[in-house]
Formats: sequence, structure tokens, C-alpha cells
Amino acid sequence: MRIAVLGATGMVGSRVTAEAGARGHQVLALSRKPARTSERESARQSANVTATAVDAGDAHAVREALAGSSSKGVADVLVLAVRTDPVDEEFLVGTTRMVLDIAAELGIRVLVVGGAGALRSPGHRELPVADNDAYVPAAYKAVAAAGIAQLRICEAHATGDWVYLSPPALLEPGERTGRYRRGTDTLLTCADGRSWISAEDLAVAVVDELETPGRERHITVGHHDAPPSS
Ligand SMILES: NC(=O)c1ccc[n+]([C@@H]2O[C@H](COP(=O)([O-])OP(=O)(O)OC[C@H]3O[C@@H](n4cnc5c(N)ncnc54)[C@H](OP(=O)(O)O)[C@@H]3O)[C@@H](O)[C@H]2O)c1
Repeated sequence: MRIAVLGATGMVGSRVTAEAGARGHQVLALSRKPARTSERESARQSANVTATAVDAGDAHAVREALAGSSSKGVADVLVLAVRTDPVDEEFLVGTTRMVLDIAAELGIRVLVVGGAGALRSPGHRELPVADNDAYVPAAYKAVAAAGIAQLRICEAHATGDWVYLSPPALLEPGERTGRYRRGTDTLLTCADGRSWISAEDLAVAVVDELETPGRERHITVGHHDAPPSS
């Protein structure tokens, strides 16, 4: 597949880029400051990755990067994994709408890596995770609200072919086990009650979803805490 990653140098985007490159996909890695080749892990990954500088605030530049010179565009799918610090809901919502518009025009499927706040609470389906203090402390309320706004933009998009992947409550760099649990619109937790996954395993789930799309438009993933079966 030809996979574009917008936000390719971030915690999520860099791992999706590495995972997809290692599986032999052609990756167009987009961000304002592209990573140097030496920052990628293997020669095979690097051979499959083309890094290009693009500012998501510049719709013309994003369109140009995705359209290339062919009428069919340069990617089959796009992973949207941009984030700003502090959170900027207007930027996130505007970028998501712009990406969905351009992707629909070029026939590109979009996987949005969004926020856990857009999920339902386990055991309390009526309670959005964004409003659940057990998973979203006060300091993250604005980030969680932006994630919900981003999902609403996807849902309101008439022509876009998208899937919105909400990470679990905690997403951090860690080990690539290659295993995870997949859910739909409700937060996944482990046996100990924690809701988490490593960014490496989230990247595995992202590329699996690109290779074998499910039918649901809102999905989530979580750490697989059962021991591997022998
Ligand atoms: N538990 C959760 O719900 C959870 C936890 C973590 C992350 N997430 C979500 O996962 C997604 C990715 O987050 P992350 O942690 O990987 O973010 P990150 O590490 O901060 O990376 C952000 C990426 O966005 C790029 N970017 C920012 N502004 C840009 C612009 N104007 N144009 C082009 N690229 C731009 C950055 O590259 P440049 O600066 O070089 O442009 C970088 O590649 C976000 O949607 C975030 O909300 C969710």
C-alpha cells in the first residue's frame, strides 16, 4: 500500500511510519520538520519512507503533497496523527476537515488517530470518557473535548471514507509485543483496571486496520494482558 502519515515525526506517527515501512509499504512521511534518515531504525524502513515537509495549516501544500502529479494521488490511505501543545481545538478540527475534503477528492481512505475522550465509559455507556474523572483528569479536559469535536467533524463529513481510532486512556512509548485487543466505541481496560497501550502496539493496530479494514468507523485498541498462547 501507499500510506501517507501526517504528523509522521510524532510519538504515534513515527511508530506508524516505522511499522508500515518495515512491512514493505511505501510511506509518505509528512510533518513540518521531517525526520532525518538516520533517525529511522533500519535500512529497509528507510528505503520505503519518503519524508516531505508540509505544514497542515497550509491546505494548498497538503493537497499538493497528496495529489502528486497523478490524478489518483500518491497515497491509498492517510493516517492523521497531528497534535499541538497546548491543545488547539480550532486547528485540530480545521485540519481534520481539510484532510477529509482533500482525501475524498483524491479517493484516499483516512485513519484518524484521535482521543480516548471520544469513547464511552466501560460499564457506563452514557458517560463519555471525556467527562469521566477516573480516566481524564481536569488538566486533560480540553484535550478530551477537542477529540470529541474531531470525531464530530468526521461523522458530519458527507463523502469521506474514514475510521476514527481512539487510543486507550494512557498511550506511551514502550514495547512492541505485536498483540493488542480491538474494540469499538467503548474504552478498553486491562484486568487491573488500567486503560493503556504502548505506542508501538498502537502502530501495529493502525497498520493492521489499514491492511484489513473493519466495518466500524469508531474503534479503539488496548493492551493485550493475557500471556501469549503457546
Ligand atoms: N490517550 C489518548 O487519547 C492519546 C494520547 C496520546 C496521543 N493521542 C493522540 O494521538 C495523536 C498523535 O499524538 P502524538 O502524541 O503522536 O503527538 P506528538 O508526538 O506531539 O506529534 C505531533 C505530530 O504532529 C506534527 N505537527 C504538529 N503541527 C503540525 C502542522 N501544523 N503541520 C504538520 N504537522 C504538524 C508534528 O511534527 P512537526 O512539529 O514537525 O510538524 C508531529 O509529527 C493526536 O491526535 C493525539 O491527540 C491520544
